[in-house]
Parts: sequence; structure tokens; C-alpha cells
Amino acid sequence: MSINLSTVIAGVRFPSCLMNAAGACCVTQEELEALGRSSAGAIVTKSMTPHPRTGNPSPRYYSFEGGSINSMGLPNLGYPAYARLIPELKRFGKPIIASIAGFRSQDFVEAAQVINTANPDLMEINLSCPNIPGEPQIGYDFEGSKRLLKELRSIVQVPMGVKLPPYFDPAHHEAMAEVLNQVGVAFVSVINSLGNGLVVDPEKELVVIKPKGGFGGIGGKIIKPVALANVRAFWKLFQGQVPIIGTGGVVTGTDVFEHLLCGASAVQIGTTLVEEGLGAFERIEKELQGIFEKKGYQSPVDCRGALREL
Ligand code: SIN
Repeated sequence: MSINLSTVIAGVRFPSCLMNAAGACCVTQEELEALGRSSAGAIVTKSMTPHPRTGNPSPRYYSFEGGSINSMGLPNLGYPAYARLIPELKRFGKPIIASIAGFRSQDFVEAAQVINTANPDLMEINLSCPNIPGEPQIGYDFEGSKRLLKELRSIVQVPMGVKLPPYFDPAHHEAMAEVLNQVGVAFVSVINSLGNGLVVDPEKELVVIKPKGGFGGIGGKIIKPVALANVRAFWKLFQGQVPIIGTGGVVTGTDVFEHLLCGASAVQIGTTLVEEGLGAFERIEKELQGIFEKKGYQSPVDCRGALREL
């Protein structure tokens, strides 16, 4: 039986359903080229802002048994640099997803205009960075999200999707799905890190990262149930009509399989990539192939959304 892990999102074919999450190993030209050479199914850029940023003070990333906490503060090269890099990255023959962030609407608008002309395969609008002191996550402001996305929708000509924060109540899933239906997005990426968690070192009686008094985005294995719930909620609300990229808690092929069952068309990998390096793609791909072989699935679409309920 031949197994093919490729997937299609918004009409774009990805050679594998595994890719990096925006933020993981994707800030510099070297990192983006390494993703191009790896077996990742796409190159996802770091979320870009108008000007280059060094990000928050260190220590700003910490890993622990079961996950990680980060408050990177959007370190990136600035969108003009990524606009120059995107056409060069096309030589790797896999889709490029440009991730856009900002602090005010105008930041997003400017970036979207310039990046649109660089013609990435998809654009992911990051409404969910939890790590900028004093800047709330836009994705929790439904009216603000709608205004911004409507404006961007009139600018962006490549398939435009959103990266959302985790929601914890069905009313919030419904409110955001309503916004996204009105705007008309090409895909949904859920979830960004679980914002404003706090990890404590009891020996030192100390926080583990410096920014925001130790508060940061939680990622990795421990957030998988929240990620799966968000994938599943949006899959049901969109009745499978809007492709979903599942992010959160992907460490093994089984984790990918669970995301697919909940309705994801692809998954993004963050903490595991940072901890293990790009070899994680091959390992997880093999594990997923093993699961497909055992279960008789040939491609992600065979099991997408197939989760049964009691
Ligand atoms: C960061 O750079 O602080 C993380 C970005 C994000 O969570 O969107």
C-alpha cells in the first residue's frame, strides 16, 4: 500500500502535512533555507513586523518536562527583508507561508501590501502573539479582528488565513467562526501558544523567563488537549469547509494522527522542533506512516475529521 502524506490547503499542494510553526527555527535566512532543505512540507516564516526586532530580553525561552514557555517578543528581520527572501526560497519547491504580525492595523496593512507582491503561497495573519508587554492578543477582540481582517482581505491576493489563540468556551469559538465566515478566510491555524502561563523554579524560588515578570506562552506536549479541542471546534463550526492547520503538542506521529482525526489538514510543530531540530520531521513522518500502515489509511484526507463520538 502506498502512503502519501501530502495535503492540499486552499488549492496549494504541500508535499508533506508536517511543517514548522511560525516562530520555530524560521527567523533568519539560514534557518529558512534549512527548512527548505529539510523534509518539512512548507517553509513558514517568523511573524514579521515593519521593523527588525531583537525581541524581549533573555532568558526568554525555557523548556521543561512536557513543554516550554516563551516570551520571544517577535524577534524578526522586518518585512522588507522577508519580502526579498521569499522569491529566493521558492527554489526549494515547497509552499511558503508568510506570517504577518503587528501592533496596530497599519503595521499589518503595510506588511500585507509588501509581502503580497513577494507572492508567498499563503499568508498567515498572526492575531495571537501573547508576548508584547501592553499589547493584548487581537484574536480575543472579535470586533477588532473583524475590522482588521476585512481590511487585509481587500489587499491580500494569495490565500489568507489566521493564526488564532486558544479559546476555552464554545461561545468564543462561535464568535470567531462568525468573524471568519464574514471575512472569508482560506485557512485557520490553531492554536498559538497558551498565553500568559507562569513556570516557577521552586528551588530558586524564581520565575524561569525574564519578560513580563515570567509570564509567557506555553507550548509543547501539555497543550495538546487544548489544541485538539480548538481544531475540533472549528472543524465542526466550518463543517469541514475551511482547511485547518493544527498546532500544539505535536511530539509524535500519534499526536499528528490525533490532530488529523479532529479535522486538521496539516500540522505545525513548534517546541519539538526547537528541542530536537529539523530531524524531528523525518522521525514524526515515519511514525505517522507506521500508524497509517497499521490502520489502512493512505493519505491524511482519509482520516481527516473522522473522530468518533460516544
Ligand atoms: C513571540 O515571538 O513572542 C512568539 C510569537 C507568537 O506567539 O505569535
